[in-house]
Amino acid sequence: MARERILVVDDEKLIRWSVRSRLQQEGYAVEEAADGKHAFELLEHSDCDLLVLDYRLPDTTGIDILEKVRAEHPEISVLMMTAYGTVESAVQAMKLGAFDYLTKPVNLDELSVVVQKALETTRLRREVRRLRTEQRETHGKVRLIGTSSAMQEVLDLIDKICVSQATTVLIEGDSGTGKNVVAKAIHYGSPRADRPFVNITCSALTETLLESELFGHERGAFTDAKTQKKGLLEVSEGGTAFLDEIGEMGPAMQAKLLRFLEEKTFKRVGGTRDIRVEVRIVAATNRNLEQAVREGRFREDLYYRLKVIPIHLPSLRDRRDDVPLLVQHFLDEFNAEFRKNTNGVSREAMEHLTAYDWPGNIRELRNVLERIMILEDKEQIGLEDLPSEIVGNAPQTGENATVGRTRSDVVLPLGTLTLEDLERGAIEQALERTSRNQVKAAKLLGISRDTLRYRMKKFGLLDRSDD
Ligand SMILES: Nc1ncnc2c1ncn2[C@@H]1O[C@H](COP(=O)(O)OP(=O)(O)OP(=O)(O)O)[C@@H](O)[C@H]1O
Ligand SMILES: [Mg+2]
Repeated sequence: MARERILVVDDEKLIRWSVRSRLQQEGYAVEEAADGKHAFELLEHSDCDLLVLDYRLPDTTGIDILEKVRAEHPEISVLMMTAYGTVESAVQAMKLGAFDYLTKPVNLDELSVVVQKALETTRLRREVRRLRTEQRETHGKVRLIGTSSAMQEVLDLIDKICVSQATTVLIEGDSGTGKNVVAKAIHYGSPRADRPFVNITCSALTETLLESELFGHERGAFTDAKTQKKGLLEVSEGGTAFLDEIGEMGPAMQAKLLRFLEEKTFKRVGGTRDIRVEVRIVAATNRNLEQAVREGRFREDLYYRLKVIPIHLPSLRDRRDDVPLLVQHFLDEFNAEFRKNTNGVSREAMEHLTAYDWPGNIRELRNVLERIMILEDKEQIGLEDLPSEIVGNAPQTGENATVGRTRSDVVLPLGTLTLEDLERGAIEQALERTSRNQVKAAKLLGISRDTLRYRMKKFGLLDRSDD
């Protein structure tokens, strides 16, 4: 690790010398400045980790330097030295964000302890900043996979929203198309990333609870309100509030939200004071809001107010080009998570994955792959590993439409039987024929024992004798 750098600023040569010698002895790299001007020059040009700063300087005060450092290099810790030990100057320095203060004459042992702590704080601040950036990268565009033109349009739009001042976005899309991911990408890709991102699922709360969650409440506003509580909008000042499933919001809350969007102010429950906050609202819905408006369940004015910037997330079946990319993305994810080495999917399997309609969209694709990766331990995922609903769907591309090797042997009973019924029936028969010997039954069915157990569990066919 590189030596940590400390800048000592004091107009008295003797003090600089004694502080410097002690800190050098302890292995730090030390620089000195006798006045504010020189201190600023050094701060601009060297990576300093800690500032040891005198309160009184010839051309400025330590307080001025402190303020500037806090604003421009917030990770650097500052230790103040004050000759008079006056409480006011020390208090003022602490209020402005100094790490600690030492009174002159400086006790060098005390200095050494405080310097260690202050440097630890600098390290932590830097670490937090690094993690924040990293988090922003993973939450941001990096995780939004898709090169199809439909997805590229969405990504372009997100880029524009990130840099724009516009404060309202409406994300529409079927379940599992990535609305939550997009909301996060908008937050972490924007200058708001350092401020909070809060997520409120409107359908999960009653209307009264939702109101007090969003807007907060005053003490005594209702029976349980023993103390005053800030709402999520206040908490996320400067950041992003994600209102999920907005279509489920009741009429009274719709009116209150509209007022907030128009006036940027709201009242806490039981409160009379208008509170003003600056928050970007990102709302999402998997329902057709336009239809809800037509049916009188959703306010038209609120709908248009939210829809200033609409993002429509395409269903996976409308961007099948992205399936192989997404498959690879999730294989990488689960290989890392489950410590497996599955490096791909056979051509036939990929054809089926691409041809399938994915009613549950990306979430369903992710779940399917997760299940396979837990159960199987293979270099390559084949047709036999895919769930029946996907294999049963003959690929629309390619002339090779054979579904598994037994396709011609199976006489398809038409009527009310679903694929699940067939699967369940086959498993029951195999168990019966093998007197519930799972290894033999699995062999008979051409699946692994883990897969068999998984499916038995799914169909409720596991009983005590099977353990
Ligand atoms: N473009 C994408 N790239 C990679 N992963 C994605 C993408 N879109 C969605 N996912 C993943 O798919 C899953 C579902 O996404 P998400 O929860 O955002 O969907 P949703 O539209 O909010 O669904 P719902 O309407 O059910 O709330 C998550 O695991 C998410 O990480
Ligand atoms: Mg969601």
